[in-house]
Amino acid sequence: MKVIAVLNQKGGSGKTTISTHLARAFQLADYNCLLVDSDPQGSARDWGAVREDNPVSVIGIDRPTIERDLKHIANKDVVIIDGAPQASDLAVSAIKAANVILIPVQPSPYDIWATSELVDLVKSRIEITDGKLKAAFIVSRAIKGTKLGNEIFQALADYGLPVLETAITQRISYPTSASLGVTVLDDKIDENAASEIHRLFKEIKEKFL
Ligand SMILES: Nc1ncnc2c1ncn2[C@@H]1O[C@H](COP(=O)(O)OP(=O)(O)OP(=O)(O)O)[C@@H](O)[C@H]1O
Ligand SMILES: [Mg+2]
Repeated sequence: MKVIAVLNQKGGSGKTTISTHLARAFQLADYNCLLVDSDPQGSARDWGAVREDNPVSVIGIDRPTIERDLKHIANKDVVIIDGAPQASDLAVSAIKAANVILIPVQPSPYDIWATSELVDLVKSRIEITDGKLKAAFIVSRAIKGTKLGNEIFQALADYGLPVLETAITQRISYPTSASLGVTVLDDKIDENAASEIHRLFKEIKEKFL
């Protein structure tokens, strides 16, 4: 079982959007996938509850017991943890449970600077696990048509974690599909968005699984 935690204490960075989409992408590729909502706000659970027939299994673990609780989960190929904003005990618990950590960050210096505490936590865990834990930034909510400046990638690289090649673009189809309890991979909602999610899925599979 591989555990992928999508974490950033900065609110609104795209954690839930990326978690729900990755969970759906894995599930569509026939992985037995579980989405764990670690946010007391319960956004991923709300998304899962919109449709009774949501094919993605979503459960909530919003106490700092994620690592322990996941030990009781068998028969899953992949677990995606949707991180909580501003709750460092939950972040520590998710970090301990994870094999892979994705840090979605909006392409702005304020958002990049705000990750430093999380990056320190992640790096010390990478050391403790002798490098078994993998982590990467993912640029989230990038404005379409604006070429992401090298300075963004450079600024992120300065934090000493890799940056995924695939960036997630700001697109209206992400919130509109969420409000229907689906994803951009469903019902041909937005093929460009679907193709970036497929690229993300492929990149994660090739680099980390
Ligand atoms: N790529 C995107 N394009 C357009 N809107 C987006 C995108 N990613 C996220 N959003 C919207 O921005 C808001 C915040 O996104 P999301 O809930 O995924 O972030 P979050 O990091 O989980 O937030 P929180 O910290 O509150 O849990 C939501 O309304 C979401 O629909
Ligand atoms: Mg969220």
